[in-house]
Amino acid sequence: MIRFSSSVTNLRSSEIRDLMSLANKPDMILFSGGMPDNDLFPLREVDTIYQELTDTEKKIAMQYGPTHGIPQLLASLSEYLKEKGLPVEENRLLITTGSLQAINILAHAFIDPGDTIFVENPCFIGAISAFRSYQASIVSIPLTADGLNLIELRKKLDEMEKAPKFVYLTPNFHNPAGTLYTRETKLGLIELLKNKNIPLIEDDAYSDLYFHEEDKLHLQTIKSINPEGIDVCYTGSFSKILGPGLRLGWMLVPEEIYKKCELIKQSIDACSPSFTQMVAHKFLQNNVVTDYLNYIRPEYKHRAEIMTQLLKTTLPKGCNFTPPRGGFYIWIELPEQIDATAVLKRAIEKGVVFVSGKTFDPDGTRNNYIRLSFCNTSEEKIRKGIPLVVDSIRAEMELSHLPC
Ligand SMILES: Cc1ncc(COP(=O)(O)O)c(C=O)c1O
Repeated sequence: MIRFSSSVTNLRSSEIRDLMSLANKPDMILFSGGMPDNDLFPLREVDTIYQELTDTEKKIAMQYGPTHGIPQLLASLSEYLKEKGLPVEENRLLITTGSLQAINILAHAFIDPGDTIFVENPCFIGAISAFRSYQASIVSIPLTADGLNLIELRKKLDEMEKAPKFVYLTPNFHNPAGTLYTRETKLGLIELLKNKNIPLIEDDAYSDLYFHEEDKLHLQTIKSINPEGIDVCYTGSFSKILGPGLRLGWMLVPEEIYKKCELIKQSIDACSPSFTQMVAHKFLQNNVVTDYLNYIRPEYKHRAEIMTQLLKTTLPKGCNFTPPRGGFYIWIELPEQIDATAVLKRAIEKGVVFVSGKTFDPDGTRNNYIRLSFCNTSEEKIRKGIPLVVDSIRAEMELSHLPC
């Protein structure tokens, strides 16, 4: 028998992944993927950027670069983050191969097998997997419509003999819940974590994808509030604002944490792709990214509104959701007795696919939620697919003799 390490012995393909493999028929309507729509990518802009690179820039793009990132991107990304109010000068920026790598490196830096960490429930599955792979003991704190349940957080902090190694959160347009933490929740969180020697990993993959200018106050990141007495490790990504194929993200962290993370990254991949770093740099340097965001925000908002409207008018009683104010997702709560995997099986038969709630439950039990992505599907397909999702929910509710 092959003797794998203890950290991978228990890694399994999830039930959901196996089910998803049934869902790759060509005409399937996909509400499952958390990725941008292929038809919205800035293809012409990439062409122009590449054509306009000088030979010197092309040579840099083809070569290995420094572990922490090519100087051009570090400079332009610093400016971009400063404009968002982030304390770039007092921290260090490390370019990573997607922000999942940033999360993974931070997990590597902090977790010894058996260490407790706190996450939200529900939680981004990529982060759960990363934390599991370092054999963390994961404690989950429920989310409310306003953000993390601070009463539960306080209770868990009081109960624990040893403080968690870190808290991992996605305050802006959560995946999967879509939640935007209120400013009050962010400030309350800061109060609770202050001077406790518990770093906060703030995952900010979605904050540029807001639908309403008036949400700007709530969108301010915890890192940019710059709280004293908390080491905030801020992670971000080009995946949702340009394209995941670039495989570029970053972390902005205090110097001491940065030094360890840079060493960890060196041993993983030496550096992130110089080629895509050069492209991302040009997007930032020429402000093309701002124009592009101004183009995609209304498009995603429109899709979210269509989906919201259809759900509001057709979902059976007992199913609830909060209309999203940004990001990529709608998170629907089904009646407690309903098993989202059974709904998903029906939906796949009808030609539509989404992700069932258990996937995002760090405890792997609660399954009366579904996540619908509106980012990756055209209006026409949303109009066609949502009635099929609703029919599947209704059929399961009828089977359980629930009024619907
Ligand atoms: C909340 C969150 N964080 C991080 C990531 C990772 O993105 P990437 O590694 O492509 O930057 C994702 C991707 O879906 C996400 O939803």
